[in-house]
Amino acid sequence: MEKFARNSLKKKKFIIFGGGFSGKFIANEIRRLGGEALTSSREIQNNTTSFVFNSLSSLLPPDHIFEGTTHVISCIPPDKSGKDPVLLKLHKKLKSLDLEWVGYLSTTGVYGNTFGEWVSEKDPVRPLQDRSKRRLLCERRWLDSNLPIQIFRLPGIYGPGRSTFESILKKNIKVIHKPNQVFSRIHVADIANAIIFLLLKINHENFKQIINIADNYPTSQIEVIEHSYKLLGLKMPKPINFDDAKKLLSPIALSFWEENRRVSNKLLCKDLGYELIHNNYKSGLESCLEIIKQKNLI
Ligand SMILES: NC(=O)c1ccc[n+]([C@@H]2O[C@H](COP(=O)([O-])OP(=O)(O)OC[C@H]3O[C@@H](n4cnc5c(N)ncnc54)[C@H](OP(=O)(O)O)[C@@H]3O)[C@@H](O)[C@H]2O)c1
Repeated sequence: MEKFARNSLKKKKFIIFGGGFSGKFIANEIRRLGGEALTSSREIQNNTTSFVFNSLSSLLPPDHIFEGTTHVISCIPPDKSGKDPVLLKLHKKLKSLDLEWVGYLSTTGVYGNTFGEWVSEKDPVRPLQDRSKRRLLCERRWLDSNLPIQIFRLPGIYGPGRSTFESILKKNIKVIHKPNQVFSRIHVADIANAIIFLLLKINHENFKQIINIADNYPTSQIEVIEHSYKLLGLKMPKPINFDDAKKLLSPIALSFWEENRRVSNKLLCKDLGYELIHNNYKSGLESCLEIIKQKNLI
């Protein structure tokens, strides 16, 4: 794919709204492959590949930012009222551009609680949390936007700088045991790589509007934490039972434990043919640890 991607991305310009953890990683991957990528942030950054966009401000990005744009990706979550920050402020602008493709990063939270069962894009959405209801509203707005949109539903995102290792090393990890509870995950490198794979593959026959990007191995959080301690050569503290842990968790942290689902990647990996870089958390964590060691952080 690398050579094909280099040829295909050479003259493409990406505007990435939300240069946070995933947005920055995707932008770097596009640049590595020879494309141009600008990312937004809410405050002025000291670099030429960043521009300011804040949906709560009346200032919009200047027109020259959009010149020659072929692709747009939004990594910005819904605002408090359930509006999509990018469509709210820039829908008309985006429609005026000659866009080849638009991607929107959503969440598998829209599926709600499946009590540990597998869930795919074909299953009905049953959002449980208010934030997931707001997300669904945004997905629908993007689907109705008359833009060439693909929506990526993501489970828990981890990667270099955002993994169990950082929580362990900063000593702010909670080791919680809740029987039969699983979480799905995705390494940020697979988000970037899968998105690039999909946008290069795009044609009218295989165009799928909603795609889960998840790894092959949903599992308990404690299994991941235990493995992280092992890789660090440290002893894991005694787990706390979920009922006792409840009072230690913030409402938002607690809400994640109210949902238990295994997210299927069959559409992405079997039907569309994407090969995961990190099949499971073990492979993903090893690569995160490698980077921590290279940076002499341990
Ligand atoms: N983290 C997860 O585990 C997870 C799981 C599933 C789905 N998701 C969703 O996937 C997307 C990417 O996740 P992430 O963790 O990479 O995101 P992130 O690091 O939290 O970055 C979010 C970005 O959105 C920008 N932003 C937020 N509100 C904005 C507003 N009102 N106007 C303009 N920009 C705004 C932020 O700007 P600043 O750079 O100025 O802060 C930041 O660049 C998000 O929509 C997230 O909700 C995340």
